[in-house]
Amino acid sequence: MQKFSVIVLMTILLSSCASSTEEKKNTRQPSKQWWKESVIYQIYPRSFKDTNGDGVGDLKGIIEKLDYIKSLGVTAVWLNPIYSSPNDDNGYDVSDYRNIMQDFGTMDDFDQMLEGMHDRGLKLIMDVVVNHSSDEHEWFKQSRSSRNNPYRNYYHWWSAEKGKPPYRYSLFDEKGDAWKYDPLTKAYYLHYFSQKQPDLNWENPKLRQEVYDIMKFWADKGVDGFRLDAFGFAAKDTTFPVFPEGYEKEFSKYYSMQGNLHQYLQEMNEQVFSKYKVMSVAEGAGNSFQDAHNLVDEDRKELNMAYAFEGVDIAKPDGYSLRHFKEVFSRWDSAFAQKGWLSIFLANHDQARLVSRFGNDSPEFREASAKMLNTFILSMRGTPYCYYGDELGMTNIGFTSIEQYKDISAINGYKKVLNSGGNIEAYLTDLKFGSRDNGRTPMQWDDSTQAGFTTGTPWLPVNSNYSQINVALQENEPNSVLNYFRKIVQLRKDNPVLVYGDYQLLEPAHPDIYAYTRTLEGKKMLVLLNFTSKTTRIQLQEMGSVKETLINNYSSVKMEEGEVSLQPYQAVIFSL
Ligand code: GLC
Ligand code: CA
Repeated sequence: MQKFSVIVLMTILLSSCASSTEEKKNTRQPSKQWWKESVIYQIYPRSFKDTNGDGVGDLKGIIEKLDYIKSLGVTAVWLNPIYSSPNDDNGYDVSDYRNIMQDFGTMDDFDQMLEGMHDRGLKLIMDVVVNHSSDEHEWFKQSRSSRNNPYRNYYHWWSAEKGKPPYRYSLFDEKGDAWKYDPLTKAYYLHYFSQKQPDLNWENPKLRQEVYDIMKFWADKGVDGFRLDAFGFAAKDTTFPVFPEGYEKEFSKYYSMQGNLHQYLQEMNEQVFSKYKVMSVAEGAGNSFQDAHNLVDEDRKELNMAYAFEGVDIAKPDGYSLRHFKEVFSRWDSAFAQKGWLSIFLANHDQARLVSRFGNDSPEFREASAKMLNTFILSMRGTPYCYYGDELGMTNIGFTSIEQYKDISAINGYKKVLNSGGNIEAYLTDLKFGSRDNGRTPMQWDDSTQAGFTTGTPWLPVNSNYSQINVALQENEPNSVLNYFRKIVQLRKDNPVLVYGDYQLLEPAHPDIYAYTRTLEGKKMLVLLNFTSKTTRIQLQEMGSVKETLINNYSSVKMEEGEVSLQPYQAVIFSL
């Protein structure tokens, strides 16, 4: 500690001589927008807070926790789907887009929740699931009832007399087949996801108009943004050409960004986004930087920000290379440095827990690595998305048998492996690490039964570590992951350099430390993150200009003569 303060004093003296006029040429002036400055908190409503003891989280639960959400410093909430749904895929199969799922409450609850958010200065982003609907949606009931029904063309049908349709891969189907035969009208319908999620026909202008009207309904209620679920897949070549054998290994190339997708987005922008002050983000970002750019190039008037998966896909059960991680995030940043805007995230409802996938969830390193990863998310250029529970460092639950899983993709994936004679053990090992259910266990509020999530039986078990990892405990602990999260959020909000500043990667080849600077209008910050469980050092000329430690997940940091030594999973941000 003492050594630290002497060195800091030295560096402060030294840095006062350093020039602050450097790096003028590369700086751009990105347009300032509320959604760029937002810190988004994602809530999986099923798992956040149950108020009536049925074991399922609800809107009243979110209302009850609005002060908590506000206390995090986050400025917007993205809610996973809350519309009426038979819950084949937990709300991603919508049966009525203008109603609230019974499990979650009523429209009155919704109105009250939205008002409560707005009263606290929080914006609300709704999930719009319109690549497909539920097979229990009225449109589909009509559509399947006869070949002449006016809703027939709301979906994709292939008449049986044409023979079997060309193979289409399904992500959730237990046979992997996206065509389901319906004897009622002797035709197959298309479902990229489960059989209960038939794909909507975006080539039909009537369907598109229905969707825009639905979006206007919610925009009129005052919601502040939309996240477009699986939207990259919406446009299709309805002649259904034969795809090359084995295409499913890279199905996204064949499914994503096809046909008239950009025109549909421009139409949606014209009819909805431009008429309201709402933000928009699609799930996925196409197959290339060009696709991603085209989605969010302001001049094209489509969407506001890209949400690319390359970063979150890096973590694997046997680990990942930090060099690769740095390379991916740096490549995306530079591709968007002049134009467009990115989302920054390492977790969501389709991923396992942040700390278990990218950090270290052992008792020794869980807290430090959770803080370090949150520092990363909140110090990059792009809008940060923080998933509920990651502010506590919640971990994977680690199910070992298929009976424990609730997620349709896990269950049908299991059947598929079983049917095809694949390796079940390997499949279960992968699930244990990466299953979506890991990231969906109930929020851990306190150490009472069921972690204070419910008085009943939770729909998915509470992680058994809840008595060590919960909000109540962390509230009272100044150095908890939770209180650190609040600090790093505040730091970002106080410093536009962390939002808009240029990003520059330092020492790309360093295997353990991620080091970068952020620079804006003469302000400069240095971010240092140790991604390993060992103490490690890095030499940086920037260390000579360190002025102040802005945040640190340890109580000190060792620096001497251009070198800094970081403890396991240490994260530090300095001003330069
Ligand atoms: C998106 C959602 C995922 C859902 C799927 C089908 O990928 O994020 O949760 O299962 O679309 O709607
Ligand atoms: Ca409930």
